[in-house]
Amino acid sequence: MTTHSPDVRRRGDYGVDGDFGVISARWQGVILAVIVAALIALTVRYLVVGSLVGALVTGSSTLGLVLFIGSYLYTTRVGKFEVWSRILGDLRLRGDEQVLDLGCGRGALLLMAAELLPRGRAVGIDLWQADQTGNTPAATRRNAEREGVADRVEVETGDITRLPFADNTFDLIISNLVLHNLPSAADRRAALDEAVRVLRPGGRLAIADLLSTDRYRAHLRELGLTDVQRRNLGPRMWWGAPWFPTRLVTATKKT
Ligand SMILES: C[S@@+](CC[C@H](N)C(=O)[O-])C[C@H]1O[C@@H](n2cnc3c(N)ncnc32)[C@H](O)[C@@H]1O
Repeated sequence: MTTHSPDVRRRGDYGVDGDFGVISARWQGVILAVIVAALIALTVRYLVVGSLVGALVTGSSTLGLVLFIGSYLYTTRVGKFEVWSRILGDLRLRGDEQVLDLGCGRGALLLMAAELLPRGRAVGIDLWQADQTGNTPAATRRNAEREGVADRVEVETGDITRLPFADNTFDLIISNLVLHNLPSAADRRAALDEAVRVLRPGGRLAIADLLSTDRYRAHLRELGLTDVQRRNLGPRMWWGAPWFPTRLVTATKKT
């Protein structure tokens, strides 16, 4: 049994999570920098003309925005890895499991899981949308090489609502910040149906997401899974503020 957690110091490059379909990450960064600079300039101007109320409003807005950006970057670059390292370590894997990561992106979870599988296999599936910077199968494979786990990692292109795997294939299914990207509640239910279909009896699910996690929990119970639980993953996975937390839903398929 593997009793350690994966190393949170990563050698790969995992990009930044976000919605970059309409405005690229670079332009979103430029826009935010311009807004912060304008707010600072306004605050200074209010101070120069002696308007303390104006300076207080623009100064606190600047601070709020900077804290929001800092929390977001911390979560996507550091917090996500710390939290998932703990989640994966707590699963106490034997080391020979078949693990599937739904919407693996550049491999943040996939490759940490692979570290715990010296005799197993970690499969990542994704459609490579612009929900993460530089999101391509090549980037994920490159990261697998850098982390020294390429021998046990497979990267597939496919839709998580129609998984190209046989029933009862995987011992563990993990996913982070993916299901909320699906266009409808029916698609999210289909993704959960598919995850349960390809999970072996006795296999476990650990799905983290921003929205609708109460519905995921309810649907997994409807599907007959046991020990279905949901918990808030805390400040290391706030996306800018406490009102954008990530929650983890865990469950086990009946034997
Ligand atoms: C915010 S990224 C998270 C990536 C990774 N799980 C992580 O935590 O680093 C969301 C990922 O979900 C993928 N995705 C969205 N809809 C998908 C679908 N229907 N099937 C497969 N992947 C999907 C995107 O391409 C993207 O890689």
